[in-house]
Amino acid sequence: MSTALPHAAHVLDIGGGDGEHLNHLLRLRSDLQVTTLDPAATVGQWIESRFDARVLKLPSTDLGQYLSSGRPDPDVVLLADVMHHIAESARPAFLACIKSLLGRVPDLRIVVKDAQPGHWRTWLAYWSDRYVTGDANVSPISREALIRLFEGALGPLQYEETGLFQSDRPNYAIVFGRALFSRPSGLG
Ligand SMILES: C[S@@+](CC[C@H](N)C(=O)[O-])C[C@H]1O[C@@H](n2cnc3c(N)ncnc32)[C@H](O)[C@@H]1O
Repeated sequence: MSTALPHAAHVLDIGGGDGEHLNHLLRLRSDLQVTTLDPAATVGQWIESRFDARVLKLPSTDLGQYLSSGRPDPDVVLLADVMHHIAESARPAFLACIKSLLGRVPDLRIVVKDAQPGHWRTWLAYWSDRYVTGDANVSPISREALIRLFEGALGPLQYEETGLFQSDRPNYAIVFGRALFSRPSGLG
C-alpha cells in the first residue's frame, strides 16, 4: 500500500485501532503524516514512540466529527480492515461522509484494505471478530461488492488494485480516486 500514496501525503487512518499497521507504513514512508481516529476510547496505542511527531491520535472520534472539526483535510483516507466492521445498514451514512470529503478534496485517494470472503483465513477472522471481539455488525465484503458499493455511493470513480491479493490472499487492498487511475483488468 505504501507505493500507492502521494509524496508527503497527510493520511487519515479511519478506524485506526491499536495502530500496529501504521508502524510498517511510517517506517517505509518517512514523508507521511498520519492522523488516526477511532470511535473507540483508545487509538494508536501500539504505534512506536519514534513516530510520535508524525502521528496525531484522535480517540472517540468518527469521520463526521473529524470533518466538522476544522482540522486539515487529508490527501488520503485509509480504511484498513474497517469496512467489514461497519454494519451494512450504516455504510450509506459512512460513505456520505466520504463523498462530502471527496467534494472538498477532488484528488483524494481512498485506500481500502480488507479480506475476500470464501477463504478459510477470512472465516477465522469472521469468527474471531464475531465471537472473540464480540462485534455483532461484522459483515465480510468482497472486492467486487466493495467496488459496487463505492461506485454506487460516491459517483464516478476509478480504482486500482495493489498487489496484495496476489501476494497474500485473501487480503486485498484497492485504491479509489476520481480520474486518477487507469482501470485494472479482471475486476469491475
Ligand atoms: C479490525 S480493527 C482495524 C484496526 C486497524 N485499522 C488495523 O488495520 O489494524 C477495526 C476498527 O474499526 C473501528 N470502527 C468500527 N466502526 C467504525 C466506524 N463506523 N468508523 C470508524 N471506525 C470504525 C473499530 O473501532 C476498530 O478499531
